[in-house]
Amino acid sequence: MPLTVIVGAQWGDEGKGRIVDLLAAKADIVARYYGGDNAGHTVTVKEETFKLHLLPSGVVHPHSIGLLGNGMVINPATLLDEMDRIRKAGVEVNPDRIKISHAAHIITPGHIALDGAREAARGEALIGTTKRGIGPAYNSKVTRSGLRMENMMDAAGFKEAVRSHIDSVNHQLDKLFGAEILDGEAISALYEGYAEKLRPYIIEVGKFADEALKSGSIILAEGAQGTLLDLDHGTYPFVTSSTPTAPGALVGLGLGIGSANRVVGVVKAFQTRVGEGPFPTELDGDLAVRLRGTGANEWDEFGTTTGRPRRVGWLDIVLLRYAVRINGISDLALTKLDILSGLETIKICTGYRFAEKTTPTLPLGPSNLEGAEAIYEELPGWQDDITSVRTWEDLPEAARNYVSRIEELLSVAVKIISVGPERSQVIQR
Ligand code: IMP
Repeated sequence: MPLTVIVGAQWGDEGKGRIVDLLAAKADIVARYYGGDNAGHTVTVKEETFKLHLLPSGVVHPHSIGLLGNGMVINPATLLDEMDRIRKAGVEVNPDRIKISHAAHIITPGHIALDGAREAARGEALIGTTKRGIGPAYNSKVTRSGLRMENMMDAAGFKEAVRSHIDSVNHQLDKLFGAEILDGEAISALYEGYAEKLRPYIIEVGKFADEALKSGSIILAEGAQGTLLDLDHGTYPFVTSSTPTAPGALVGLGLGIGSANRVVGVVKAFQTRVGEGPFPTELDGDLAVRLRGTGANEWDEFGTTTGRPRRVGWLDIVLLRYAVRINGISDLALTKLDILSGLETIKICTGYRFAEKTTPTLPLGPSNLEGAEAIYEELPGWQDDITSVRTWEDLPEAARNYVSRIEELLSVAVKIISVGPERSQVIQR
């Protein structure tokens, strides 16, 4: 069945939006399956550039239907704001085009306040979250005290549920963290208004997606964050609180096993990470500044959601081998190859050395990379500007060798290469 999952193969920010944009041109439906407005995808509508945090980025294509799956945690204020902004840019926004799962969870100012308070309480051991309330909202979900989109169907009941949720959050803010408490009355009135606006968009997304697949529609599931931020499979505890890996697309959209037929792993040509946690190939000094950029360009390595400078490093094949396995990646999209132009040589990490032992794969998953020393292979760089290259044959030999070496090391084909920020700056093979 034609369900393609697009998944970040590293720590997020791989440039998934670009690849989604490309593949969404042929999709009938685009879907987000896990996460919330901690994600940020840059999209372009006509001349305008937007950062979408909740809506699937493919929804800016006029022919597509956008789904927000049950695995998501949704901040209704952010969602309504995004809907307004794309509507103003000329994108049609109505319940025929955008559908929200009844079982997706709702983020409140209570979750956001708890995110901040918990991070502050962690002190030096902080996770470096995006402070969007993601962890606390999933916490409410697993403790079975969360608010779901379906609660919005009953206006009075919803208002009361929000008030009682804020009461319980206030108890924690006050007693556990000594933090300022929130105005439950004002928040519940605000959320009553959000419910009024969002109610027509709420459906059972799994049923809709299943019927669409059966009738021959093509669905593109857009992963947020990245493999190494997965709650189970990432660099725990420096992870997000959900399942961005490809199998999450099935659970997070309410589809059965066997629905997916292609998993595209998006890999940046070098490694980046926001927030705390291990990073064996991390660089500092001039080379780091060179890869990160100054922040002057849209595509420089600064967080889309938080604006924080990203940590940067060489491509890590040990972690990518893991990502290929955990996601069942069928082919790769390599982004930002142009950023490497002009370097004398380029390193790829092909293994780790722990004390005296070397290993090409992770001995016990990625959560404990303490003491992992990267083993590098050094390849010649290329000096030519590749931003106007559109075919594989026209890439400089050294650039082709770099891509081919990645394919060889991972035993997966690179089918898409991006060489610049514009929609057209792509090589397809
Ligand atoms: P949270 O998802 O806000 O709880 O943050 C947990 C960790 O995931 C932090 O290190 C964040 O920087 C990271 N993170 C969350 N969402 C993204 C994303 O979309 N891109 C990159 N990193 C992210």
